[in-house]
Formats: sequence, structure tokens, C-alpha cells
Amino acid sequence: VQAERGGYKHFMRKEIHEQPEVVEATLRGRIDLAEGDVYAAEMGVTPEVAQSIRRVYFVACGTSHHAAIAGRYWMEQLAKVPSVVELASEVRYREPLFYPDDLVIAVSQSGETADTLAAVKAAKAGGARILAVANVLDSAIPRMADGALYTHAGPEIGVASTKCFTTQLAALLLLAVYMGRRRSTLPQERAQKVLQALWEIPSHQREVLGDADYVHAIAKKLVHAKDVLFLGRGLGFPIALEGALKLKEISYAHAEGYAAGEMKHGPIALIDEQLPVVAVCPRDAQYEKMHSNLQEVRAREGQVIAIATKGDEAMLELAQHIVWIPKAPDEVMPLLTVLPLQLIAYFVANLKGNDVDQPRNLAKTVTVE
Ligand code: AGP
Repeated sequence: VQAERGGYKHFMRKEIHEQPEVVEATLRGRIDLAEGDVYAAEMGVTPEVAQSIRRVYFVACGTSHHAAIAGRYWMEQLAKVPSVVELASEVRYREPLFYPDDLVIAVSQSGETADTLAAVKAAKAGGARILAVANVLDSAIPRMADGALYTHAGPEIGVASTKCFTTQLAALLLLAVYMGRRRSTLPQERAQKVLQALWEIPSHQREVLGDADYVHAIAKKLVHAKDVLFLGRGLGFPIALEGALKLKEISYAHAEGYAAGEMKHGPIALIDEQLPVVAVCPRDAQYEKMHSNLQEVRAREGQVIAIATKGDEAMLELAQHIVWIPKAPDEVMPLLTVLPLQLIAYFVANLKGNDVDQPRNLAKTVTVE
């Protein structure tokens, strides 16, 4: 078993370190950098279909739902298609309205999650077109869909999803570029830039993962924390949600992911010197706003752990601990900022002696309601 874990103590750690190569696998054969275009005929979304879609409707659960939130952001920003994202478990019981010109994107690592499958059935009944973004080949959701975009991350054993999340992000970004090019809403030059940035992501990820020892030192400070707040904005928001979910799942600490802009509407009341705040704060379009949110945290003595872009000197005054990530365009940032958060959760859980790969009460795939 040790050999299966590639020399790592847990599958989760192995899967975290596999991310650069599996993201490469997601991208392989699908990108034309010179043309600034994406090819994935297996999705069953022909140019005519891409042009006829009036709304993209993402459905997913858990970590896949967080990837879908980023997917929505890209779909609106790059492809300019009105999009919504919903928790599958809510959609299925809500008498939702679907139309034939909806593209319903079901994001599911296993392709077998009962709630997501039920949401897909409801969408199908409404005549919508279904696209599965899945990892497990030929699983139930892709089988029910009109087409599939597989993430090719290989088997994920750890219950806490890591490599499947980043490959879902890569697939959803490809999909947004594909839609934007087919609908002529994404200029070729911008598409080239995004795809080039995505292409360079695995090497940036290797760099971030190379700093795991430093993240381990930070995790030591969080071992006794009972609550941890994760903040982010824009594409940092789903990453904050994901960081909090990872910590909850395997370390059993209470963690909350919050949109930083919502702080003043409630959670700011929680902040005191006892509360560690993990801030997803790269130098992106949301940076100035995040920065002022962190000043509010500091004014209340909150302890800030920042995920920040190399060279951002201003962060040194705001944060007690900083994990530096390389410079990269805004669109691809989530594929980098999530890595330290996965490592933090992993190290905290491991320091507590928890069963990292099989956390209590959780199943890898939830095939019941
Ligand atoms: C992730 O760490 C979780 N174990 C869980 O939230 C998972 O993402 C969720 O159950 C959805 O699974 P799926 O992607 O296989 O549909």
C-alpha cells in the first residue's frame, strides 16, 4: 500500500502532489495555443449548439459545487453567457424551471452522486441539454448526459477531493474559452492569453507545492484552532469555500468560507485575537478590496494567514504568515491559491492524528440522499 501511495503517508498527500501532472492530462490534446482555441468534440456541444444556448446552469455538490462557482464566473466573464450555479440537493426538490436552450453542466468527480444525478434528471425532463464534467469514465451522470468533458485526473482515493477539484477548474476554464470562441464573445487574443496561462499552470503549481514545508509550519499554528475563517472575493470566493470545506472534512475543526465583501454583514462580529483568518488575496482585480477587508480584520486583532502573490510587499504589514504564490493572470489564479489551503488542511489533520484518507462520517461518493 505504501507503494500505491507513491511513498507518501496518505493518498491525499500523494494526490495533492499529483496535481501538476493531472492538470496536464486535462489540458492534453484540447488546446491550440496559436489559434487561441479549445477542442473537445466529446462534449457534444457543436458550434450551432454553443450559439443557441441562452443560459448555463451548473449543478453540483460539495467540492464540485465550488469548482462550478468558478465555472460560472468564467462562463460569464469570458463567454458572456448568463449563468447560474446551484446546489444539486436544492435544485432537485424545488420544482426548478429548465428550458431546451439551457446548457446544464453537471460537475461530479464520481459521476454517481445521487443529488446531482437527480438534478440532471429534472433538467432532462425540462428538455435542457446536459453536459457532464466528470472524472470517472462512463459513470451514471455522463451516461445520462448528451456529452461529457472528462477531467482525466486518474482515480482519487482520498475522501477529501484535491486533484479532481483542480482538474475540474481546468476543464471548466477550457469550456468557457470554447463557448466564448464559438459565440465570438471572446476575442482570439484574450483566449490565447488565458490558454497560455493555463498551459503554464502545472509548472507554477510545482513551485507552490515545493513550499510544502513552510505551509507545514503554518499548519502547526492552527492545530488548536476551534474556528477558522476563510475569506476570498471573485475567483477567490470559491477557493475560500473550498479551503474551509477541506479543513472541516479532515481536521474536524469548524471552518467557514465567506465572501470577503459579506464580512461587514455579520461575520466581522466573530473577529478577535483568537480567530485565525485565512485570506485568499492574490494580486488580482479584487486585490484592493481584499486588502481593505484584511485591514478591518487586523484592526480587530484577527490573525491573518495570507495566500499572496510574490512581490506584494504591502502584505507583509497585514499578515502574520504568508504563503507566496507566483504571478499569473487572474483567470488561472484559483488553480494556484487552492494548493496551500489543501496542504494546510492536510497538515492540520495529520498533526491531529486523524484518519486523513477516510475521515469520520464521510463517504467518497454519496449515492444516497
Ligand atoms: C470533497 O472533498 C467531498 N468529499 C465532497 O464534498 C464531494 O465533492 C461531493 O460529495 C461531490 O462528489 P462528486 O464530485 O463525486 O459528485
